[in-house]
Amino acid sequence: MCGIVGYIGHQEAYPILIKGLHRLEYRGYDSAGIALINPTGELNIYKTKGRVSDLEEFCTGKDISGTIGIAHTRWATHGEPNNANAHPHYSESENLALIHNGIIENYSVLKEQLVQKGYHFHSQTDTEVLIQLIEYIKTLNNVDLCTAVQLALGQVIGAYAIAVMEKGNPNQIIAARKSSPLVLGIGDNEFFIGSDASPIIEFTNKVIYLEDEEIAIIKRNEEPKIVTIGNVEKTHEIIQLELSLSQLEKEGYPHFMLKEIFEQPNRLRDCMRGRVDVTGNHIVLSGIIDYREKFLNAKRILILACGTSWHAGLIGEYLIEEICRIPVEVEYSSEFRYRNPIIYPGDIVIAISQSGETADTLAAIEQAKQQGAFVYGICNVVGSSIARNTHSGSYTHVGPEIGVASTKAFTAQLCVLAMLALCIARERKTIPETHILELLNELTRIPNKIERILQSDDSIQKLSNIFTYAHNFIYLGRGYNYPVALEGALKLKEISYIHAEGYPAAEMKHGPIALIDNEMPVVVVATDNDMYEKVISNIQEIKARNGRVIAIVSESDTVVKTIADYVIEVPTTADCFDPLLTTIPLQLLSYHIAVNKRRDVDMPRNLAKSVTVE
Ligand code: G6P
Repeated sequence: MCGIVGYIGHQEAYPILIKGLHRLEYRGYDSAGIALINPTGELNIYKTKGRVSDLEEFCTGKDISGTIGIAHTRWATHGEPNNANAHPHYSESENLALIHNGIIENYSVLKEQLVQKGYHFHSQTDTEVLIQLIEYIKTLNNVDLCTAVQLALGQVIGAYAIAVMEKGNPNQIIAARKSSPLVLGIGDNEFFIGSDASPIIEFTNKVIYLEDEEIAIIKRNEEPKIVTIGNVEKTHEIIQLELSLSQLEKEGYPHFMLKEIFEQPNRLRDCMRGRVDVTGNHIVLSGIIDYREKFLNAKRILILACGTSWHAGLIGEYLIEEICRIPVEVEYSSEFRYRNPIIYPGDIVIAISQSGETADTLAAIEQAKQQGAFVYGICNVVGSSIARNTHSGSYTHVGPEIGVASTKAFTAQLCVLAMLALCIARERKTIPETHILELLNELTRIPNKIERILQSDDSIQKLSNIFTYAHNFIYLGRGYNYPVALEGALKLKEISYIHAEGYPAAEMKHGPIALIDNEMPVVVVATDNDMYEKVISNIQEIKARNGRVIAIVSESDTVVKTIADYVIEVPTTADCFDPLLTTIPLQLLSYHIAVNKRRDVDMPRNLAKSVTVE
């Protein structure tokens, strides 16, 4: 969702905030704004529709002085992306400025009350209501800014990460969070605020993650103080981050997405490092071993996730049911949280989330915990809310994923699910040890096999030229490759805006086949696995209707190559690891089609990387 950044210290704030906004732009990018207090105590706000680069242009020639400031890059929830709705927002007197990530659910009631008291609104946002409320409370009760923020947040229903500054007080920022992430960076006599650590890491690796309903009072030349909304003082451990700046750079690639696709072999090696030791025939996921009894006795596993992570969950279902013999159900977090689900004692919930901040998944976890479930998280972002709110879990360890369309995080989720399933299968003895060892060995070969697929990038790029102007796409797969078809279609939609549907191949004849003609490209995942013969029949059905087939086939394939119009080869592997390979060419195909269409690949329209509102 939105990205927020703040600075107070001895340096000029503007360049730090702008750089921070660029790093956070993947969170939202329909408008951007900045508030600065200049050396004479004036509070200046500059904001505009568009990207951070538009904001920089807008600020040219303006007073951008000051060593304290807050800034925001927006993903619209209330009100269209325009100058007025961009953050920061002033209060009525223009003495206060606020940036906000999240949603104030009861904003309309509060707004009505404030309008009756003579407050004027200049935007359609829920955020403006919050800053007006803070000012109203501050004036009415004649209290300081922090107390006013505490009292106002006590009246608010919803999610927020906020930062507030006050005209005439260049020495203080008040920040607070509930259900939206907020990190405080501790520098040398300077402090930073970020929606995540990416705008901070260049200056300090020492951070504090605020908890829900906590407020940070950040004063120049003083230790930050953390209190709750109810004014209970809190102490927090300072965490040393291991993030490096190069992980946040494109390193010569034209887009983060391409960099992240090409990083996959090494990131999967990172993901397995210290967990899989083929020479010692070892597989260790401490999150499982520490709760061995729970996994040993699990009666059912529920996987909860959204978007691409949900697709990983579907593959996890096939894998866990096949090799661990535990029934698995996969559900969208957004559905689960609102339908009074049944949780049995002994159920295990696995929550999958790249960002670890997805609001629906967080809420679904809470629901599951309240009903007594043991919750295991698979997250990428270290220290994220989901990682902190689950009983146990495993990080995917692939470093920051900046491209909005998820790539390396997805394959790493599959890798963690594979390790998890192998761990559980070994504990439960559901498949022979020799089979476990074969699979373990094969898993470690996956990064090299992905490297081989990446060598086909040039030919996939050429293939993409043929399909750049298609209006629709169908993706088909069966068994383990059915979720791959869903993910392939999602990737294409997200970044090229071409309509695409994924289906289990056999379902095609129950509807989608009506769409097939000589203009319809059909991507079929047809690797040499248990479903191979069946998928060949599905390809024949498409060809009989003049559809154009792009098939993902095994290097050893001899049959599909003669029927399909175009083929992309992948190495063979165990059926259950097929998605780790077949996903790669689909990522590249989407990427190149989107580039051909001159789409903004890393920041596709209307999307956001981390969806912290429901
Ligand atoms: C957003 C992102 C997707 C992601 C989904 C779930 O929609 O654009 O790429 O798959 O959220 O996010 P999570 O962080 O929970 O995996």
